[in-house]
Amino acid sequence: MEIKIQRTASPKEKPDQNKLGFGKIFTDHMFLMNYDEGEGWHDARIVPYGPIALDPAAMVLHYAQEVFEGLKAYRTSEGKIQLFRPEKNMERMNLSCDRLCIPAFDEEFAIKAIKELVKVDQDWIPTAEGTSLYIRPFIFAVDPMVGVHPAKHLIFAVILSPVGAYYPNGIEPVKIFVEQKYVRAVVGGTGFTKAGANYAISLKGQEEAEKQGYVQTLWLDGVERKYIEEVGAMNVFFIIGNEVVTPALVGSILGGITRLSIIELLRSKGYTVNERRLSVDELVEAHRSGNLREAFGTGTAAVISPIGELKYGDTVMKINDGKIGETSQMLYDTLTGIQWGRIPDTMGWIQTVE
Ligand code: PLP
Ligand code: COI
Repeated sequence: MEIKIQRTASPKEKPDQNKLGFGKIFTDHMFLMNYDEGEGWHDARIVPYGPIALDPAAMVLHYAQEVFEGLKAYRTSEGKIQLFRPEKNMERMNLSCDRLCIPAFDEEFAIKAIKELVKVDQDWIPTAEGTSLYIRPFIFAVDPMVGVHPAKHLIFAVILSPVGAYYPNGIEPVKIFVEQKYVRAVVGGTGFTKAGANYAISLKGQEEAEKQGYVQTLWLDGVERKYIEEVGAMNVFFIIGNEVVTPALVGSILGGITRLSIIELLRSKGYTVNERRLSVDELVEAHRSGNLREAFGTGTAAVISPIGELKYGDTVMKINDGKIGETSQMLYDTLTGIQWGRIPDTMGWIQTVE
């Protein structure tokens, strides 16, 4: 399929790279493609960034038939543009689509579309330390109908946002609140997908965590409320003694691409990494006995985010004295080194945009 390009006649002013924040500024163009039953995905185009008209009855507005992805483009010091494992994002997006009854799309074509869009808006890729261009592909149902059925008409869109660190203080350790009242996902539900609805139902826990001075919520399993799952926008890892532990992908947790990469990196460096069930009681006990050495979250937006404090009921666990752990720092340096082209990509994770 050909991608038609219509360039904007009025480019916007570029933002101050030191004040980007996360996801508040958008570039000059966006990618759009339509799905209509009988025709499949068609009419791929790059157009000026702007509002999308929707019928008030558009299904996404009522029943949240929507999925999204998040990846980044990085500008190397030599001026090259790099994407990190975009094929994994597109594979996961189709997995999300399947669960939400959204028709599959051609993953290779989607990567081509993302690269084309990044190329059109390449002057928007920031170069300041720790900044990148966040890529947000998403698909939503537009049929004008309030009956509950899988959509027959959808839009696939990609927008771009120059970003700095996800958390205001960069790689500074974050304080995380273990949620006991609300749940995010159960096995059989949509926890393993990037359905927008997962995030809507997690807002309440997030709000309460913030009220108590914590930046995000650590979700426990929705059935026994005992096992660690993931944080709002990150997977989690704990170093207990000499073992690195991360919750197994049981169906209610997002299979993070950063998570996968960190597991592969750690194993390549000889660490013992186990994907298994980890109860909050085991964590409390490991902390009490001095065996909980480090904790960190992993995600595209958050990169590697050390966890300096965990609150579970009345128990407040300070981890590694609230400082960045040695392994967390090594992982941050290695991963960002590969992403920004400072370290050779021996893992085959980078795709360049040419
Ligand atoms: N878990 C949730 C709920 C997320 O939203 C994210 C972010 O995408 C992650 C984990 C990390 O996934 P990834 O490393 O693919 O960005
Ligand atoms: C990401 O890391 O890409 C995310 O999607 C996290 C968040 C902004 C929802």
